[in-house]
Amino acid sequence: MADTSEYLREHRERHEEELKRFVAIPSVSARSEYQADVRRAADWLVERLLEAGMATAEVHPTEGHPVVVSEWRGAPGAPTLLVYGHYDVQPPEPLDEWTSPPFEPEVRDGKLYGRGSVDDKGQLYMYLKAVEAHIAVNGRLPVNLVMIIEGEEEIGSPNLESFLVENRERFACDAVLISDTGMFAPGLPSITNGLRGLAYMELRVQGPAGDLHSGSYGGAVVNPAIALAGIIAKLHDEHGRVTIPGFYDGVLPLSEEDRKRIAALPFTDEEFREEVGSPALGGEEGFGTLERLWVRPTLDVNGLLSGYTGEGAKTVLPARAMAKISMRLVPDQNYRDIEEKFTSYVRSLAPAGVSVEIVALHGGEPWHADPAHSIFQDVAAALKEAFGKEPVHIREGGSIPIVGAFEQTLNAPVVLLGFALPGSNAHAPNEWYSLENYTLGTKTIALLLDKVGARG
Ligand code: BES
Ligand code: ZN
Repeated sequence: MADTSEYLREHRERHEEELKRFVAIPSVSARSEYQADVRRAADWLVERLLEAGMATAEVHPTEGHPVVVSEWRGAPGAPTLLVYGHYDVQPPEPLDEWTSPPFEPEVRDGKLYGRGSVDDKGQLYMYLKAVEAHIAVNGRLPVNLVMIIEGEEEIGSPNLESFLVENRERFACDAVLISDTGMFAPGLPSITNGLRGLAYMELRVQGPAGDLHSGSYGGAVVNPAIALAGIIAKLHDEHGRVTIPGFYDGVLPLSEEDRKRIAALPFTDEEFREEVGSPALGGEEGFGTLERLWVRPTLDVNGLLSGYTGEGAKTVLPARAMAKISMRLVPDQNYRDIEEKFTSYVRSLAPAGVSVEIVALHGGEPWHADPAHSIFQDVAAALKEAFGKEPVHIREGGSIPIVGAFEQTLNAPVVLLGFALPGSNAHAPNEWYSLENYTLGTKTIALLLDKVGARG
């Protein structure tokens, strides 16, 4: 089929403008005041998918935010690829830390700033533009294509798995492509072969029936903030290991090959420390930084709330305290098993004088690729052609909870080809996407469709 790169070059500016319009829609899935905007983003996508030349595109309602499904099946005998992405974004707060407002996308220094620019609108939109290019240049796609674009990834995909299971025949495919991860370094294309899983818990500690004067009552009433701090302090030992009994039971040891791959990556602790801006790095003893991030399970406090936190001093013994705690999991840990182990251990740590409620907020299984399938060769070849460099194989400390479900439900390999650069501030203020990667990623995808199509 004819080359699409000239078409992509010619239409580059318009493609950037369209992405800005997409980012301008505040499709924040976590908060109900944005519900109409989430729906608007889904409707907007349907229009763009049809414009690009997809044969069908529809908004499929769920119990939560809708899923957009789009198909083009005009290549009988050719492989079928399924693309997954998400059109929802994280809340933008804190707003005063944004240089330009989160939903007024702005280009500065080759970067498109805006909430969702890289996670995942910019990465998802590349697929639409690769499709547009193929259909404009060749009148058709080299493969059959299905796109599933959800609006609930950032809240743990509560409705997607059942949707996949109900439609497993319709969504049968040869491989699943996802661009919702990153590159290891600028100019270094990367295939992500592992994701951590997640068990996310909320701890609610209740002391007295209401707030009390900390002079009149302090010392005789158990303080829930101190009780909670005590529980949290016991969740790690002095070697940085998580103390929950059985926490490490399922953890697979690192293979020699994986260890070598990780050691060969261009990485120094000092550069990483500078990037995050902490005075020193820390974690589980006996492992390097990338191992701690990618192949070791961890436990973190994500939020902590109790008592008076406003200006000045208020003498109060708070009635309650709350913490949000996430555990990132690795193969072959199981999130439900970890939720249970966490719950019974925390119960055993709770001191008398407070009651502790433990709620599992969401979870997902860890995942590791089986890179033997031919799709991995095609992806590597497309990345190499677009970026002029051999891709590296990395892992990721973050989670995409639905990846395992795709693999198991559809019995097809999942490939994570991501284009976010380090420091792109996903989930943080001033999120950005490199416009160079937007262009090169679109090119990669267009090339990939050709390569997979050529396998007939
Ligand atoms: N795009 C991310 C996954 C990711 C995280 C890729 C870090 C590369 C680096 C995804 O949108 C995400 O943020 N996932 C959440 C999952 C959670 C909300 C269930 C995560 O990892 O926290
Ligand atoms: Zn995200």
